[in-house]
Amino acid sequence: MTTLNDLIKNKNILYTLMGGLVAIAILLLDISIPLGVADGVLYISLVLIALFTKNKKFIYVGAITGTLLTIIGFFLSPPGAELWQVLINRSLTILTIWTIATLCILQYGNSEKMSAVQDELELSVHQRTSELNKLNIELEKESASVQLHKDIAIAANETKGLKVTLQLCLEKICTHADWPVGHAYLLPDQTSSWLEPAKVWYLEDPIRFDIFRKISEATPFGPGMGLPGRVLVSRKPEWITDVTKDANFPRAQLAENIGVKAGFGFPLLIGKQVVGVMEFFSTKAAEPDRDMMKVMAEVGIQLGRTVERHWAEADIQNSNERLRKLYQRLEMIREEERTRIAREVHDELAQMLTTLKLELSLLDKKMVNDNAPLRNDTQMMLVLINNTIQTVKKIAMDLRPPILDDLGLHEAIIWHGSEFEKRTGIKFSFEVCSGNVELDIKRSTTLFRIFQETLTNILRHAKAKNINATMKEKDGTVTLQVNDDGIGIKSDQILDIRSLGLLGMRERALVWQGDVDIQGVNNQGTTVTINIQRV
Ligand SMILES: Nc1ncnc2c1ncn2[C@@H]1O[C@H](COP(=O)(O)OP(=O)(O)OP(=O)(O)O)[C@@H](O)[C@H]1O
Ligand SMILES: [Mg+2]
Repeated sequence: MTTLNDLIKNKNILYTLMGGLVAIAILLLDISIPLGVADGVLYISLVLIALFTKNKKFIYVGAITGTLLTIIGFFLSPPGAELWQVLINRSLTILTIWTIATLCILQYGNSEKMSAVQDELELSVHQRTSELNKLNIELEKESASVQLHKDIAIAANETKGLKVTLQLCLEKICTHADWPVGHAYLLPDQTSSWLEPAKVWYLEDPIRFDIFRKISEATPFGPGMGLPGRVLVSRKPEWITDVTKDANFPRAQLAENIGVKAGFGFPLLIGKQVVGVMEFFSTKAAEPDRDMMKVMAEVGIQLGRTVERHWAEADIQNSNERLRKLYQRLEMIREEERTRIAREVHDELAQMLTTLKLELSLLDKKMVNDNAPLRNDTQMMLVLINNTIQTVKKIAMDLRPPILDDLGLHEAIIWHGSEFEKRTGIKFSFEVCSGNVELDIKRSTTLFRIFQETLTNILRHAKAKNINATMKEKDGTVTLQVNDDGIGIKSDQILDIRSLGLLGMRERALVWQGDVDIQGVNNQGTTVTINIQRV
């Protein structure tokens, strides 16, 4: 039932009531005043009231009612003015009613059109705005993925270890997707078919997810097992809406206990081979997000290349390490061999020659004086044996100076320097800056051999006149510096991988966690600085 309130609310009914009352009032006025007085004009107000309804129909009703009442008034009003005056009066009233009604309807028509155009405009603006909003959201998503790709590329190119890189990537992905748990698995090597936990995590709340972390870290996954195993087999991103309800999720009970729901994993790929898997968990169940899966598949390829690079680097490092060990072993064997040969040459050959020399001088003395030609021969043989003894001693000395074993590095350097000076004419001076430098025989041998190589280089390349050498010890590091005043080594020669002599010097020093620094100044000379650790 329509209540009064509804009636009041319905403005058109109100206006109709108002119009009716006004019409009655005017009619009463009209029929009580003598005909001819221009009170019929008041019927125009019916059109004006109808105008408030903003409805064409009511304007027509107002105009028609006004017209009818004007005519009725003509018949019912008491006589007054002349008939022609009354007729003109009433006709003008009706004309005015319809002129106003027509104007109103025209105006109303225009405003209706205007509002239709406005509505249309508003609709299209609305549509456009919602389209723009949609595009904006897509753009934001797109730029977030581009940013993620960029962040992953930066992290992937970090020169730090693989685990640090994975850690950074997990953090970026978790922040991007707003997932609180991220973990990585890796194949231990290219031939393995089981994924091992890389023990690299992103945990928004480490305490809450601690048990989950510990158990995951103790669980390797084979093909098809759980989320990582599924990714391993499918080589595609995999999504689990709710891991607690998944039949193939061994950690389901654990996940239930700590409130882990949705799970998502994607492969790290080298070509078609899965070399690792990254898994992520949310605390809410979630339907697969295809966009995210697509982005992560691309990220997986990018990270696969990183794993490949790290594997290649590790391979190179391993073979470098092996080569270095091999070189060091060869050097050690060479040194032992030199020592052995030097000893044998010195102790046995020189000894035998000395005995031979003694025997020969006895023989010489036994010979009678008149056997002059024979004595000449023995004298010559004695000179020859003497020379041979000197040569043998020199060979033994060159192979390994006994002074190094007997008196130590300091004396060996002085001896070798002065021999070098005698042989080449290049002045040699040596100074020990911090008292006595104590070094074991192996380290002494290394420093001595590098020193020998340095002097050989000076003789062959430097065109130097003077050599100054200093030795000191500071904080457990022994430093031997050899400086010449020659033409100066060039930087490209220092860095040239074909400079095998320099490379050998560096490799020797590396055995004792040492290094060799070489600096050259054009026409001013070269400085070679050798550092090795004392213990
Ligand atoms: N003291 C020096 N002054 C000037 N140039 C030097 C000096 N020492 C080395 N060089 C330059 O550095 C290069 C590399 O030296 P390196 O000892 O590696 O090789 P090498 O002496 O030419 O040959 P080897 O392998 O027989 O030692 C030399 O060829 C020489 O041009
Ligand atoms: Mg050399």
